[in-house]
Amino acid sequence: MMKKRSWAEPYKIKMVEPLRMLSRKEREKAMEEAGYNTFLLRSEDVYIDLLTDSGTSAMSDRQWAGLMLGDEAYAGSRNFYHLEETVREVYGYKYLVPTHQGRAAEHIISKILIKPGDYIPGNMYFTTTKLHQELAGGKFVDVIIDEAHDPESEHPFKGNVDLDKLQRLIDEVGADKIPYVAIATTVNMAGGQPISMANLKAVRELTQKYGIEIVHDMTRVAENAYMIQQNEEGYADKTVAEIVKEINSLTDHATMSAKKDALVNIGGFLATNDPDVFEQARNLVVVYEGLHTYGGLAGRDMEAMAIGIKESVMDEHQKARVGQVHYLGNLLLKEGIPVVKPIGTHGVFLDAKRFYPHLTQDEFPAQTLAAELYVDSGVRAMERGVVSAGRNPETGEHNYPKLELVRLTIPRRVYTQAHMDVVAESVAEVFQNAHKARGLKMVFEPKYLRFFQARFEKL
Ligand code: F0G
Repeated sequence: MMKKRSWAEPYKIKMVEPLRMLSRKEREKAMEEAGYNTFLLRSEDVYIDLLTDSGTSAMSDRQWAGLMLGDEAYAGSRNFYHLEETVREVYGYKYLVPTHQGRAAEHIISKILIKPGDYIPGNMYFTTTKLHQELAGGKFVDVIIDEAHDPESEHPFKGNVDLDKLQRLIDEVGADKIPYVAIATTVNMAGGQPISMANLKAVRELTQKYGIEIVHDMTRVAENAYMIQQNEEGYADKTVAEIVKEINSLTDHATMSAKKDALVNIGGFLATNDPDVFEQARNLVVVYEGLHTYGGLAGRDMEAMAIGIKESVMDEHQKARVGQVHYLGNLLLKEGIPVVKPIGTHGVFLDAKRFYPHLTQDEFPAQTLAAELYVDSGVRAMERGVVSAGRNPETGEHNYPKLELVRLTIPRRVYTQAHMDVVAESVAEVFQNAHKARGLKMVFEPKYLRFFQARFEKL
């Protein structure tokens, strides 16, 4: 039997960006000044930045070269046509409307498809997606399988839809009140968990019976495809690129934050196969973003995106990308740290409820944990718990999600294995001192997407 061999990143490093590390005292001060919200820290005060994988990836030399090919014409930029051709070829959607990032596409598709009083079932909520559904008059309904809400469940496809929940909703409110099902590949708030092809096919079959469409949040579709290749029967011999196309072919419209999978610092789009929706979107984009051939982006951004899309569906890229996330996850599991299982694709999610069994959700355990981690080592993470979940628009009460998580999100092609080792050591240290943590109280709360700008004080 051959011994299992190591793998390494399929690239070498051409340019570096020096990091700065503050003293513990300086970090304590910075955290207090930031109102115990890692979104309000200055990036210069951060040592290893795991806030998000959004717009933080390293571009390739080809993408950087692509920037020089930017055609900055107001109308009809050559880079738009390159992007359009790439979206058709790699993703398989017919029509493209570029936007400056994902939430702009969510805004536009919500406005087009949702009528006040509609219901939008989805495989768990995402913050911006749900907000735009609500602003358009819709009500989000979570129809993900129960396992997704259980950080201990090792279900390999926790992004799956519970077909009974979906059927029940259709029976209850009627198919005419459900314009579409929102399907995310992979599910961010569940811990970066994939949906299986078999489940997506079953959702397609059920919804087609009722004339309900599928809007695909394809922000991390290539990562989802990689997990299907690794873990779903019948897909081991298919390429990530082939699986991506198959996923997309089961959906009608797509919103994309190209800042993730597609390896760019800014960019997104709305894609559709429906010429009527395309015409409406193309018209709305000029109101909110810019002309339909740039949608708020520079020509050079669209060029970098077109190149990044092709790189994102390469098997060896995903193997290294997801492999690095799993490397960190496995280090933490070995230390007995409570994390969401199985390890997802874009980050490792710490289970703050199990870090701090002595804190209630009103004391913001995940917010506390992210702050403690920064103070310990300068590692910046993100709260994904009660603060992110916001308030119920009807009752004004906090939404109390089952998952109270801190996300260690790994930018693509940016950090090394040694950085992952440092992160794991710091998390272990914070875990050992967990019983000393006191929790936080919210002293400022913005109206929308409060997690970005809320401020806290120590209890
Ligand atoms: N959908 C998903 C699944 C996302 O993760 C994001 C962004 C969006 C939509 C919105 O896209 O930021 O380009 O407007 N997620 C980032 C994150 C912010 O950190 O997870 P955007």
